Amino acid sequence: MIFELSEEQLAVKEAAREFAQKDLLPGVIERDRDMIFPTEQVRKMGELGFLGMMVDPKYGGGGMDTISYVLAMEELSKVDNSCSVIVSVNNSLVCWGLEKFGSEDQKQKYLTKLCTGEWIGAFCLSEPEAGSDATSQRTTAIDKGDHYILNGTKNWITNGGSSKVHLVIAQTDVEKGHKGINAFIVETDWDGVNVGGKEDKLGIRSSDTHSIMYTDVKVPKENRIGEDGFGFKFAMKVLSGGRIGIAAQALGIAAGAYELSVKYSKEREAFGKPINRHQAIAFKLADMATEIEAARLLVYRSAWLKDMGMNFDLASSQAKLYASTVAMKTSVEAVQVHGGYGFVKEYHVERLMRDAKITQIYEGTSEIQKIVISRAITTGDLYVPTKTNQTVTA
Ligand code: CAA
Repeated sequence: MIFELSEEQLAVKEAAREFAQKDLLPGVIERDRDMIFPTEQVRKMGELGFLGMMVDPKYGGGGMDTISYVLAMEELSKVDNSCSVIVSVNNSLVCWGLEKFGSEDQKQKYLTKLCTGEWIGAFCLSEPEAGSDATSQRTTAIDKGDHYILNGTKNWITNGGSSKVHLVIAQTDVEKGHKGINAFIVETDWDGVNVGGKEDKLGIRSSDTHSIMYTDVKVPKENRIGEDGFGFKFAMKVLSGGRIGIAAQALGIAAGAYELSVKYSKEREAFGKPINRHQAIAFKLADMATEIEAARLLVYRSAWLKDMGMNFDLASSQAKLYASTVAMKTSVEAVQVHGGYGFVKEYHVERLMRDAKITQIYEGTSEIQKIVISRAITTGDLYVPTKTNQTVTA
């Protein structure tokens, strides 16, 4: 078992760290406070290759592995989670979904622009009454021969206002249940696509989250992804990969809050010595460091399984469940370490604490991850990480 990162992977981590510190940190408090979309930062992330990291270079991507992507997500998320969720959705839900399951024409048409950030993508599954229960789609796409007519409303759409391409999940045949669901590529300047107001959120406040209304939108048949009825499995598989990205975001939040706490506790003195010399604080740091390391192992392992072409559904749910729990706990403790300073915006940890909460909710709540994990336990569908990808009974 080798735990060492390659030189290329370390270089990606370092580039992301440098970019986050130099380009994301300045103004992050103001962008969060005033819900300002990070237009300039997104442009630069496209330029630097953070928006299509895993895509094959022939479609304009960076051709990197998932581990490199996770390392970048971790560094960006230590600083600005509005930017890192844009990176996560564009890379793992939109680009990966298109590259893995799209037709050659779809890849040629959409991936290059998505990788450079010329276009941003959004993944439109959740609805006012279908979030966790993803099969209960009310959005419909009626087959009209050479096109579909799309009608419905999607909620909580990350990149809702800034995206040019939507991957929309819709019901094409209610009678068939999840086998009557399809996924479509929809361009946002087509007639009938309307963006609702921007949500005023607890965290990741400068990312733009909107509801989207589709009214009689004409979607060409060639914009359906995969065979007829493949949409639900497409959404599930893409979300499995997405959960690795969000797990890495959660890991970054925890690691960022921890690094700030280590720094502050060295500098701040109480009762005649730095507060990290008091057991009350030292033990908090010890717990943080240990839990972050455990989360990191789960996150890297899920990325590695994906890179090896093995099944990563269970591993990504476990990584997201645990890393998001650690993000929440660590960021709350980081505020405590900072005392009164932790409660004000200038010290960054309160923002990380607010950002941590969404990692337990989006791309499948913690409760959904427990459904996925517990089903794997009861069916004995646990994966052994060997090249033959054996399935074993617990
Ligand atoms: N990969 C491929 N296929 C899968 C799969 C996977 N990971 N998981 C399930 N499937 C298949 C099953 O095999 C089954 O197929 P068959 O009938 O042919 O056997 C089919 O899909 C239905 O599966 P289930 O019976 O397990 O479906 P279910 O209704 O019980 O739901 C669930 C399972 C895990 C709860 C699922 O609904 C789920 O993951 N819900 C959460 C959805 C979610 O994550 N929403 C987040 C919104 S997106 C977002 O947040 C994006 C953003 O903007 C940041």
